[in-house]
Amino acid sequence: MAEFKSELESKIVEVENVIKKFLPEEEGYQKTVLEAMNYSMLAGGKRLRPLMMLESFKMSGGTDTSVVEPFMAAIEMIHNYSLVHDDLPAMDNDDYRRGRKTTHKVYGAGMATLAGDGLLNYAFETAMKSFDVSSVDEHRVIKALRILAQKAGIYGMVGGQCADIVAEGKNSSSEEEIIFIHEHKTAAMIESSLMIGAVLAGADDETVKKLEKTGSNVGIAFQIQDDILDVIGDEEKLGKPVGSDEKNEKTTYVRLHGVDNSSEEVRRLSEEALEIIKSVSSNSGFMCELVESLISRDR
Ligand code: IPE
Ligand code: IPE
Ligand code: MG
Ligand code: MG
Ligand code: MG
Repeated sequence: MAEFKSELESKIVEVENVIKKFLPEEEGYQKTVLEAMNYSMLAGGKRLRPLMMLESFKMSGGTDTSVVEPFMAAIEMIHNYSLVHDDLPAMDNDDYRRGRKTTHKVYGAGMATLAGDGLLNYAFETAMKSFDVSSVDEHRVIKALRILAQKAGIYGMVGGQCADIVAEGKNSSSEEEIIFIHEHKTAAMIESSLMIGAVLAGADDETVKKLEKTGSNVGIAFQIQDDILDVIGDEEKLGKPVGSDEKNEKTTYVRLHGVDNSSEEVRRLSEEALEIIKSVSSNSGFMCELVESLISRDR
């Protein structure tokens, strides 16, 4: 366990160094939007998605990480754009994230909207830098770009955020609706991370499918745990407000089933994911420990 923690810490440093390489210089007449983008990107966070992408790449036999690095930065840019917009007054209206004021609190709602737009677009500009790597297999990069685009879009994360807003204030949301929300707003980006890592390493379609299912389970569990922490979490540890879902009358799994049953579901989904991961690769020790650590995460 202690060994996992120190391994995790050093891998996060590695991931953050990759991300920093791809951030824009804060200069020119557009300096303010670039500062707002970097404010969000450099605020810390768990870096779960790029970390999982890198692990999936290695697990699938990838060696030259220079091909996956632009995609690691890109997925974190899309993740941060989704959070900057999610926190806006017109959406969840939250003032704190990762222990700091949210982007709109520092730069205003207009600039935060643009920072999100900038991060989304720059994510694709960045991912396409993979084409410049000399050892590149262009077909793999094209496949990875397609996944990145689809999982972030209207049939992925944006679709989930839409259903999340539509369900606000409704007491009659069904289980199916809640799972749709979790699967899309959160799991899609985790599916994408695992799939892209594998695709860039040259994994076959069957393996990529299995990793998509893994990401789906891990992502739904991750969002159920996020909703649990919104009820029983510690604001200091989380670095974001608790009670945000109640304030916004959000439809959550916890609201439907209570905390205990929800925790049970997080465990069940994660254990199923672990079985699939083990069937995909014999070199999956760290990935399994990572998924296990998320079951009882408190931040
Ligand atoms: C927050 O994601 C949004 C959800 C999908 C629940 P994370 O909990 O991964 O956020 P950071 O990046 O670690 O702050
Ligand atoms: C947001 O879910 C998921 C996104 C796609 C941004 P939440 O609204 O529950 O995320 P937090 O709790 O603000 O991080
Ligand atoms: Mg939200
Ligand atoms: Mg929110
Ligand atoms: Mg939440």
